Amino acid sequence: MTNNYKMPKYNPDLSHNQRYFFGNWKMFGDFNSFNIIKNIEKFYVKFRKKEKKSKIVICVPNVLISFFKKKLKTKTIILGAQNCSEHVNEGPFTGSISTSLLKKAGAEFVILGHSENRKEGETPKLIKKKIKSALSEKLNVIFCIGETAKEKKQKKTTSVLLKQISQSIDKKFNLKKIIIAYEPVWCIGTGKTPSSIDLMEVSIFIKTFFHKKFNTKFIPKVVYGGSVNGKNIKFFRKWAPFIDGFLVGGASQSSKNFIDIIKNYYK
Ligand code: PGA
Repeated sequence: MTNNYKMPKYNPDLSHNQRYFFGNWKMFGDFNSFNIIKNIEKFYVKFRKKEKKSKIVICVPNVLISFFKKKLKTKTIILGAQNCSEHVNEGPFTGSISTSLLKKAGAEFVILGHSENRKEGETPKLIKKKIKSALSEKLNVIFCIGETAKEKKQKKTTSVLLKQISQSIDKKFNLKKIIIAYEPVWCIGTGKTPSSIDLMEVSIFIKTFFHKKFNTKFIPKVVYGGSVNGKNIKFFRKWAPFIDGFLVGGASQSSKNFIDIIKNYYK
């Protein structure tokens, strides 16, 4: 933060009351890992009586969704998937999982456009088809965008984000069901996080750009992801009032770490 930097004016219209805590297990967990969810559920059943405006969604490997869903005692924990096929229904697509099957399994959210999948060759065009497919099944989409370290160095952050949004989101989509996850690639699993100023600027930029580009009556929800943990969450609470929640990778693979994030956010 530079001394002469002028903080953007706090505009309460850009904020939402609801706070999302998304867990992204990635390729982690097995059938015994329900213990993690069980602990989180136990904690959250009590906690949400105080903090009603919070929501927990854990995105687990596909094969675990229906198994976990049946074992959950309450409806307080929501389950999600981490990717999907662009196809809604059955067909000759070996190894693919349709959005209708994810929905039947109990998923309510799906992460799309994650940089780990973009790196594997997922194109903006394919991501767009996947978003369309997910929305047609009334799944909520956590749409990931973010710049690489190189792009940040070249001061291309906003142009990259603008392009990623424009290439994969269509004005005709049910835009209210899309939550944008700002995940700078250089922050994922690295222990690095953006400065408060960067985060403030980027979140305001995404919200206003989306709102204007698609001519929406609402301001979209923007969550942050990348090395979020129980310690740095206090910083986000203080310095990032426009951030509507967090997409947590590594730290969501332990109930203690994930619960610490939620507890410390509200401390
Ligand atoms: P991380 O991952 O929290 O382990 O950095 C975040 C993500 O990939 O969504």
